[in-house]
Order: sequence, then structure tokens, then C-alpha cells
Amino acid sequence: MTQDELKTLVGRAALEYVVPGSVIGVGTGSTVNKFIDALADVRDRIVGAVSSSAQTTERLLARGIAVFDAGEIDRLPVYIDGADEIDRRGFMIKGGGAALTREKIVADLAERFICIADESKQVNVLGRFPLPVEFIDMAHERLVRRFADIGGRAVLREGVLTDNGHPLLDVHGLQIVEPPAMEAEINQWPGIVSVGIFARHRASVCVLATSAGVQRLEYA
Ligand code: 5RP
Repeated sequence: MTQDELKTLVGRAALEYVVPGSVIGVGTGSTVNKFIDALADVRDRIVGAVSSSAQTTERLLARGIAVFDAGEIDRLPVYIDGADEIDRRGFMIKGGGAALTREKIVADLAERFICIADESKQVNVLGRFPLPVEFIDMAHERLVRRFADIGGRAVLREGVLTDNGHPLLDVHGLQIVEPPAMEAEINQWPGIVSVGIFARHRASVCVLATSAGVQRLEYA
């Protein structure tokens, strides 16, 4: 199977986590796009969605799915999103699609994070995928030096601003052995808006598409 076919497979498989009669959280990216397309066929089962990006909002609305502001909703039963990498404990790198801050905000509203991914995203140690970081422009040079101090090479994502109007760094060369500790540390640095380590908001479940079929991995 091609990677695109695996994404279609896992996008459909994620429908089993959609709680009937609820508002669900919806992430961003090409895997989530497949999920939204599948969701359109059963849209009458849900009240609507809280979206993590302008791109996702546009796609949801185009398929007749109501979109609610995050502030209108106290709690979501599930948040369904992709990942750039996921390790064996459900810790993730996210933000390849520049939506990491809003993704974390919506994930924080949710009881469960359902990660949908193809097998290429599963890793033993996070960090081969460059770590996305949304930041305040004034802190640029200082943050590049801070990342160098911990062994990372931070590169500005040229020509991209997030939906919040901020630039991004992609940090190469990190080996994120303890994701909770590194997330907590980087979050303390002035000028950081969000770091793309999802440890506090790790996956509860990973629905993983492999060439042998769909696996469901639950994390304790
Ligand atoms: C967007 C994300 C995406 O979940 C991540 O980049 C995976 O995307 P794709 O499904 O296209 O591989 O974090 O900010």
C-alpha cells in the first residue's frame, strides 16, 4: 500500500472513536483530511467539531460539519489528530503542518487524544523529524543559541507564519529521550509560544495503519 492509501485506511478506522451526539476535536494535516472525508459520510452522528486550524475549519465546513469555537465548549470526549512521530509510550512530535499551538489547545479540552498515523511515524526515540517550535520573533537569535546548547540546529521555516501570526523554527538533530522533561524545559524559555513535543498531551490511543492492517495501540 502507498502512504496515501494507509492514510485513507486509518482515516476511516478512526470513525470508531467518534462519540455519537458529541462535539469532537479535529486536528490538522493530510491524515486528518482523510478522516474528515470519512466523517462527512456520518456527519449526522455528531453535533460538530472544534477545529485546530483554518485549513481544517475550511474542510469541515465544506463537508457540512458545524464548527464551534474552543471557548464555547467545556470538554470534548475525543480529539483526533495525526503526528509527525510517535514513540512507544504515545509521546509525539507535531507541528509539521504549523498548527501545533492550536492543536495543543484543542487537545487540552479533550478526555482522550486519538492519534491516527501510518507506520512510518512510529519511532523508538523522537527527534529524527525536526522539532517544530512556534515563537515570538524578537527571541529568534536567543532561541537558536539555546537550541544549540542542547545539541539542536534550529532553522527558520521560511515563508511560513502560523494561524496566530508567529514564525516557526524546525530544530534538527535532537534525540528526545525524555519528552516530558524536554517539553517542560523548552516551555520555560522566554519567547516560546509552543514546542511541538506532545508529552503532557500525549496520545491515549494510536490507530496505526500498517501494510498488514490497522493496529490499535493503547498507552497506559
Ligand atoms: C500539523 C501536525 C500534523 O498532525 C502532522 O504534521 C502530521 O501530518 P500528516 O498527517 O500530513 O503527515 O502536527 O501541525
